[in-house]
Amino acid sequence: MDARNLLRFLVFSFGITLVFLVTWFHLPSSFTTKETVNCNIYSGWCISKNRFQSSNPINKPTASTLRNQKPRHESDVPHHPLDPLTIQEFNEIRAVLSTHPLFKSSNSYTFNSIVLEEPDKELVLKWKKGQPLLPRKASVVARVKGVTHTLTVDLSTSQVTNYETKSDSSGYPTMTIEEMTSVLDVPLKSDEFNRTINNRGVNLADLACLPISSGWYGTPVEENRRLIKVQCYSTKGTVNFYMKPIEGLTVLVDMDKKEVVSITDNGLNIPVANGIDTDYRYSVQKLNGELNLINPISLEQPKGPSFTVDGHLVKWANWEFHLKADPRAGTIISQAKVRDPDTSEMRNVIYKGFTSELFVPYMDPTDGWYFKTYMDAGEYGFGLQAMPLDPLNDCPRNAYYMDGVFASADGTPFIQPNMICIFESYAGDIAWRHAECPITDLKVTEVRPKVTLVVRMAAAVANYDYIMDWEFQTDGLIRSKVGLSGILMVKGTTYENMNQVPDQEYLYGTLLSENIIGVIHDHFITYYLDMDIDGSDNSFVKVNIKKHQTSPGESPRKSYLKAVRKVAKTEKDAQIKLQLYDPSEFHVVNPLKKTRVGNPVGYKLVPGATAASLLDHDDPPQKRAAFTNNQIWVTPYNKSEQWAGGLLVYQSQGDDTLQVWSDRDRPIENKDIVLWYTVGFHHVPCQEDYPIMPTVSSSFDLKPVNFFERNPILRMPPNFKEDLPVCKAQDSS
Ligand SMILES: *[C@@H]1O[C@H](CO)[C@@H](O)[C@H](O)[C@H]1NC(C)=O
Ligand SMILES: *[C@@H]1O[C@H](CO)[C@@H](O)[C@H](O)[C@H]1NC(C)=O
Repeated sequence: MDARNLLRFLVFSFGITLVFLVTWFHLPSSFTTKETVNCNIYSGWCISKNRFQSSNPINKPTASTLRNQKPRHESDVPHHPLDPLTIQEFNEIRAVLSTHPLFKSSNSYTFNSIVLEEPDKELVLKWKKGQPLLPRKASVVARVKGVTHTLTVDLSTSQVTNYETKSDSSGYPTMTIEEMTSVLDVPLKSDEFNRTINNRGVNLADLACLPISSGWYGTPVEENRRLIKVQCYSTKGTVNFYMKPIEGLTVLVDMDKKEVVSITDNGLNIPVANGIDTDYRYSVQKLNGELNLINPISLEQPKGPSFTVDGHLVKWANWEFHLKADPRAGTIISQAKVRDPDTSEMRNVIYKGFTSELFVPYMDPTDGWYFKTYMDAGEYGFGLQAMPLDPLNDCPRNAYYMDGVFASADGTPFIQPNMICIFESYAGDIAWRHAECPITDLKVTEVRPKVTLVVRMAAAVANYDYIMDWEFQTDGLIRSKVGLSGILMVKGTTYENMNQVPDQEYLYGTLLSENIIGVIHDHFITYYLDMDIDGSDNSFVKVNIKKHQTSPGESPRKSYLKAVRKVAKTEKDAQIKLQLYDPSEFHVVNPLKKTRVGNPVGYKLVPGATAASLLDHDDPPQKRAAFTNNQIWVTPYNKSEQWAGGLLVYQSQGDDTLQVWSDRDRPIENKDIVLWYTVGFHHVPCQEDYPIMPTVSSSFDLKPVNFFERNPILRMPPNFKEDLPVCKAQDSS
């Protein structure tokens, strides 16, 4: 399938996002039309529409110059062992696979995943720029005649070097975009379906359906069958069809055979909501001038950006890291290193970090809802669902964009344009400060502004949008942030007002509008964090903050807090549930590398607002998502343990999860270890979430702890007025 076809399919199935983007592009934008005045040396920069096109002479190549030279993907070649597969490589892989008996003898197969098989970690760590690239390999997951196979293609020898049939493990591979779209045609083959739609008063021309992963519940109908549930909506009068569910109608489809297994409709008495005023496009809003409260705003970078992107290598301030798009994880950060201000040495922090899995269970046990327990990375492909970013609104104007190059179901490559953006962010925050007060009579005020580098992706997994940021700070901190927006998955109801509802509990959510309930649900986002603090062998230390009681007569104080350190010896010591009244810090340290005064160098995981899964451990969805049973886990590095819900997550039974691996209780002290952290949200919808949700965010930090000898940004300069041009006559200063 070529890129244009793919786009067409995406418009068909997840149409909203693209329609929205296209419409937005055509809006007259005050950002680009309002030109500026009163500039001297920076005038070229000030009046250019895109401030990346700086007229200022810049010596080093900047993101802007590199951007202009962004190679055409057809001629891309890998430069780094971790660089993703290129168009040429995808074509070679296809050629190699076409001669393999598995695909030669069958013309019905799908490639559910073709990605770089990263070289062994120790080889990557030894590799230096300028050396020949390590042998390039691809890891392939394919389905042929209802059976899943994994293969390794060695591009240096054009051979399939490893081939396994996955008949022993539960679960199926990530769906391809083609599978997700083609299952939507299946119900239309059924007379009964068409009649049902008409009976519900919906014109077939107004139908929009979604492919909903069906989970796994151990029933006979699920045995040896790859299933999906299709549920439908009416698009009449709004692009926000999610707000017009044809409630109670569920079509169970066999995904391999492309046939209807069963149709259930128990919503005949439930009207389709009218959808009035649910359209969220700017172009159709009835604008009220008073709502236009904020003037256009944009970050000024008179000397251009301070980061460079060389292929997939990003350098900014004291950081460098490798960045790539991945069809399953979305964004992968590798080999993140920070410069030591004292020695100028680039020091390892993270070998690899990415979103390993998501788990989104809905809290409604009834027939049309109980199975909605999505695992967005392993079932849908978090990266496959990352739509092109909107250049002025998803990311600021000073952003650089990186594309994804992925394989479609027949192995041909396609480009996911502008999938990741990279930009410097200045939110007006302070990096550090101190002012002396009159008591000391020292007239000192020292302040440093905080500028950060953000790497962003936004995945629109059908209705929900996940904004995924990696934010790097000059003080060594890395913040990983999740923003939730998009559209609620709502349930149709006969109720139009709460005064008709006998007991709110039986709504399983909140009445948001006439005939619409926002169903309670959770979001869990599990991160894989292969920390390498100054080398691969690290330990995990729980620093427990404990109340200590003084002995009688020891002190006027009765109690105080102590920090009690405990090194985790085995995996079970590091299965951690967060507790407000028994708090700990969570350090990853290099026990053999000490600071001048003898502390082990480390980074700590600092959780932000979060939520835990409260489902029963033997509830089928929780068994499959057992990686959310704890917020923190630490496992010994193992190349084949990267996907927290298992490699084959679709309809998995929970036999290959992080919980299963961790329960082996392997030693983790002074070893190459992987830290896992889950950010969680409970979401009880409210009326403000309708018809589209204002973003809700949470994050966690990886923060240096005795990693540097002292504040690493002590010598960073403040802002001086002369460095900042005035681009507007009515500048507020
Ligand atoms: C159901 O309706 C669709 C859309 O009008 C049509 O293409 C399809 O042929 C119909 N199916 C049957 C079995 O009549
Ligand atoms: C690595 O992971 C795989 C998959 O979980 C497992 O089968 C294997 O035993 C692990 N190896 C070690 C050394 O733990």
